[in-house]
Amino acid sequence: MEKLEIKNLSYVYSKGTPFEYLALDDINLSIKQGETLAIIGHTGSGKSTLIQHLNGLFKAQSGSVIFEGRDIWENKKDIKNVRFKIGLCFQYPEYQLFEETVYKDIAFGPKNMGLDAAEVDRRVKRAMEYMGLPERYINRSPFDISGGQKRKVALAGILAMEPDILVLDEPTAGLDPSARNNLFELIRKYKEASGTTVVFVSHSMEDVAKMADRIVVMSQSKIVMQGTPDEVFAQAPKLLEIGLNVPAITSIFLQMNRNGYRLPPVYTVEAAAACIKGMLEGDAV
Ligand SMILES: Nc1ncnc2c1ncn2[C@@H]1O[C@H](COP(=O)(O)OP(=O)(O)OP(=O)(O)O)[C@@H](O)[C@H]1O
Ligand SMILES: [Mg+2]
Repeated sequence: MEKLEIKNLSYVYSKGTPFEYLALDDINLSIKQGETLAIIGHTGSGKSTLIQHLNGLFKAQSGSVIFEGRDIWENKKDIKNVRFKIGLCFQYPEYQLFEETVYKDIAFGPKNMGLDAAEVDRRVKRAMEYMGLPERYINRSPFDISGGQKRKVALAGILAMEPDILVLDEPTAGLDPSARNNLFELIRKYKEASGTTVVFVSHSMEDVAKMADRIVVMSQSKIVMQGTPDEVFAQAPKLLEIGLNVPAITSIFLQMNRNGYRLPPVYTVEAAAACIKGMLEGDAV
């Protein structure tokens, strides 16, 4: 069974006004248990609008979102539970920190779920560990720590709800390269340990290549392509046409092929290094 299915989903902003804008145009998408799905697309293509429908933050104007076989809006009272099961982390989530201490901020979600204090405590500590936050941060104000740490606190608050699906809107936006790699590594490890299904939006083709099992490409409110990284990055010209890129290493290999080589498609530095090693050690290309 699919974990989450989006069927014929459309969404119009400012409906019935001169500013009416069709932000989602008949989206169909299935998300499988345990997979890591990346959503890419240029600015304004509808990515954030789409993912805010996944946990019922936005209500489908037409079409449906089906979680484990049931429409998330079938029973309005259940939407709160859906939001616990499908944890959504906004872009720049650190702006939503509001409690006096890191502990209280991370505990907010699990407390809201009605869990007892011992369970809340267990979850807060585990989430902090997953996000690499030292225990001594517990009593600090979330406003006194660095930007990267704030981001981790915000994410820990979602992990503490132990969602079935983790949805992340540009989780590494605005971070420097080393903080970005660190955060992605923590998310990857969390995913490995928990088996959680992960959906993330990113503008970085390198991050997508590293993390995703499958990629969905949006353009002008529609899904225009989907497939494995191999399948999607093989369509470099089409991606360029809609204002997107392929990982730099993939471009280099494609350029080499235009110069007469017959290199395999690669999209990570590691795969490229293995390929070049093979060539240098005498494999025919
Ligand atoms: N509240 C709103 N009212 C009217 N139009 C909106 C609103 N929010 C978003 N839009 C428009 O809907 C379209 C899709 O926006 P959305 O935020 O989903 O794009 P996105 O793919 O997430 O872009 P980005 O990469 O910049 O985050 C954009 O053209 C945007 O201007
Ligand atoms: Mg967005």
